[in-house]
Amino acid sequence: MCRVCGGTVHQFFDFGRQPLSDMFLGPGDLEHEFFFRLAVGICESCTMTQLMDEVARDRMFHDAYPYHSSGSVHMRRHFEQTANRFLDTHLSGRGPDPFIVEIGCNDGVMLRTLGKAGVRHLGVEPSGGVADLARANGVRVRTDFFEEPTAADIVAEEGTADLIYAANTICHIPYIGSIFRGVDALLAPDGAFVFEDPYLGDILDRTTFDQIYDEHFFFFTVRSVQAVAARHGFEVVDVERLPVHGGEVRYTITRRGTRTPTAAVAELADLERARGLGTREAFDPFAADIERIRHELVTLLRGLAAEGKRVVGYGATAKSATVTNYCGIGPELISFVCDATPAKHGKLMPGSHIPVRPGEALADPYPDYAVLFAWNHAEEIMAKERAFHEAGGRWILYVPEVHIV
Ligand code: SAH
Ligand code: TMP
Ligand code: ZN
Repeated sequence: MCRVCGGTVHQFFDFGRQPLSDMFLGPGDLEHEFFFRLAVGICESCTMTQLMDEVARDRMFHDAYPYHSSGSVHMRRHFEQTANRFLDTHLSGRGPDPFIVEIGCNDGVMLRTLGKAGVRHLGVEPSGGVADLARANGVRVRTDFFEEPTAADIVAEEGTADLIYAANTICHIPYIGSIFRGVDALLAPDGAFVFEDPYLGDILDRTTFDQIYDEHFFFFTVRSVQAVAARHGFEVVDVERLPVHGGEVRYTITRRGTRTPTAAVAELADLERARGLGTREAFDPFAADIERIRHELVTLLRGLAAEGKRVVGYGATAKSATVTNYCGIGPELISFVCDATPAKHGKLMPGSHIPVRPGEALADPYPDYAVLFAWNHAEEIMAKERAFHEAGGRWILYVPEVHIV
């Protein structure tokens, strides 16, 4: 049943049994590894694309949640620019003491800039480990899930917010009705709710099927966000396409009738309507492309193994859990995955049980090939690892299709 409107969700792809994408395993964790059915569908009543089954939130977001937003120079820059933009827009001209709440602030990658600028702020972040990192960055954090009761507490303690922001978080939250009711309780009458998440149009255009995993519950379009906003008395007044994480859209949402929507909103919604993005049929080529990519990637890796080539992975991303488990890729095809996140070192990748090593392991000695699981950070990583390529090493990419660089 649709998490937005209660309509029927039509399944269009089933990845089968999958582990939690960010559950890196220590020696004692293997016997009780958790799996669920990863399948995705669309509700044609409200056009929202969503997972068929949801995982309990405390299984995914807890003190040991390993994803650190500040792990990429490119994303640090993106969020610093975002914070500076907010200082000039949503946070300016709103009296002497504007207040911003960020849902899912992670390690404070965005709020730290506003904290330094002396802006009153609050991050709401349920994962205790990353919330502590945010505090170390001078950010005020409430270790909690944002939802309706949390919003009521915050407004009672601190008053209304001029801006509520979330990046790569609203799409993680199946209880989106409670989020909107919370925003309604907390947001000042003329305040804005701004959030950015991977865009379904880009996922289909680039066959980035690995964006589909336990934590990514919703795959938004302008029209599906309009549908959920309208149910709560809000409307989308601006959209902006962002070049991060393979293509995202930033939605600006206000109470209905408080601002005139920009032309960009209708333009993108019209494009979506023209390409049938709200219907099951839109996913037919996507499903065929996913199966083709699996076949080509597995064939390539098996061929390289047969030739005795050394192949590793780069970036123990949540996305890579979908790729390795759906394709049946284990340590016999990819001997280890290197990643800069200390919390992942010495652990095994979820489901595939491929070992994770520090970034320096790449050069020890250089392998013949490295599968770039962190393809969204390709420019940054290829620049950093230029010596690997100069030594004859080659990158294997699998989006938008399998190719070697
Ligand atoms: N904003 C950061 C983090 C994205 S990861 C970035 O763009 O890089 C998603 C984050 O949302 C995680 O840190 C997770 O702990 C948090 N999260 C999950 N459910 C949440 C909820 N209900 N309220 C607030 N944060 C939540
Ligand atoms: P993401 O694609 O979800 O942002 O995750 C990126 C992962 O890749 C994260 O685990 C950190 C890792 N990474 C590196 O190991 N080295 C790098 O240079 C970058 C940018 C990321
Ligand atoms: Zn629906």
